[in-house]
Amino acid sequence: MKKIFKWAGIALGTVVLLLLIGYTVIAMRVKARIGKNYSFAKEEILFSRDSSTLARGKHLVAIKGCQDCHGNDLGGKVMNDDGAIGRLVASNLTKGSGGLPQDYSTADWLAALRHGVNHNGQPLIFMPSHETTLLSEQDMSALIAYCEQVPNVDRTLPANDLGPIAIVMSHFDKMPLLSVEKIDHNKPMIAKADTVTGAAQGKYLAVSCTGCHRTNLKGGEPLAPGFPPVPDITSSGHVGKWSEKDFLTTLTTGKTPEGHILKNEDMPWKMTAQYTKPELQSLYRYLSSIQ
Ligand code: HEC
Ligand code: HEC
Repeated sequence: MKKIFKWAGIALGTVVLLLLIGYTVIAMRVKARIGKNYSFAKEEILFSRDSSTLARGKHLVAIKGCQDCHGNDLGGKVMNDDGAIGRLVASNLTKGSGGLPQDYSTADWLAALRHGVNHNGQPLIFMPSHETTLLSEQDMSALIAYCEQVPNVDRTLPANDLGPIAIVMSHFDKMPLLSVEKIDHNKPMIAKADTVTGAAQGKYLAVSCTGCHRTNLKGGEPLAPGFPPVPDITSSGHVGKWSEKDFLTTLTTGKTPEGHILKNEDMPWKMTAQYTKPELQSLYRYLSSIQ
């Protein structure tokens, strides 16, 4: 009997040791990726700061979820803080204390939104730049023009501190840790996006859904342990059975025709509620056209 316990103990000890070594190697690799420095040619875009441009920028901030992560006042916030995933912090996007440097320029905004790096060329963590990089030049300039004029917020935030689950999931590409690695950096911005209601506009807007519903919008595993699985939102899922009206009601109230209540923390319906009606109609047409 004693011998069995002894061997079981040794076997268990070996497994734990191997897991620890494996984790240490993974953590080192992820840290090396985060520590990498990038350099991209500085870009400039044309700006207009008229009221319709600023209104468009404000709308984009609402429908692209910038406030879900960076806070309603864009003064930054701690998005998550627990032992498993770690502390994830979205920066203060104003020039108040604890915010962006005073000399933060348009080129710096473009480095972040187009390339996924900060003004020092370090990769941004969990900032969905692989989505913002697909904005049209017109939308990009409206977004930056609006962000540059929101009132300063004095808020100093703690640094990011990745937990073991975030490190392991990022290593296996199950979490979008470093968008800089996913971006085609040579792809130029399109000048203007389609603004006619229809599938083409829907496709442009649906970029914001791909982060969770996957590139093919057919859903998949939960985004992190403890979250619900992500549903298929193409014609092969519930959306294929819904009318346009059902779709609009779901995305503006968080309640599906099947009676399921979507929690805003899982599915950001308070964000989708801010899309205009024609934008939601375009999304519906695009999503229900995908087989
Ligand atoms: C899923 C959450 C999330 C969303 C949505 C998001 N961000 Fe971020 N963003 C972050 C995080 C986290 C960081 C900090 C990254 C870091 O410190 O490495 C960041 C960093 C940035 C930076 C870089 C700041 C710096 O220090 O250089 C800019 C600029 C930015 N975000 C703008 C935006 C804008 C504009 C939007 C909306 C179009 C947006 N973000 C949407 C999470 C998000
Ligand atoms: C932060 C991740 C995230 C983003 C971004 C997101 N979704 Fe979701 N969505 C989810 C999750 C998770 C669920 C399932 C929630 C549940 O089961 O309670 C969901 C559910 C849905 C549903 C209900 C589907 C069904 O079968 O009942 C629809 C419709 C939907 N999302 C559409 C969209 C659209 C359109 C966008 C982009 C404009 C979008 N989502 C962006 C995570 C997201």
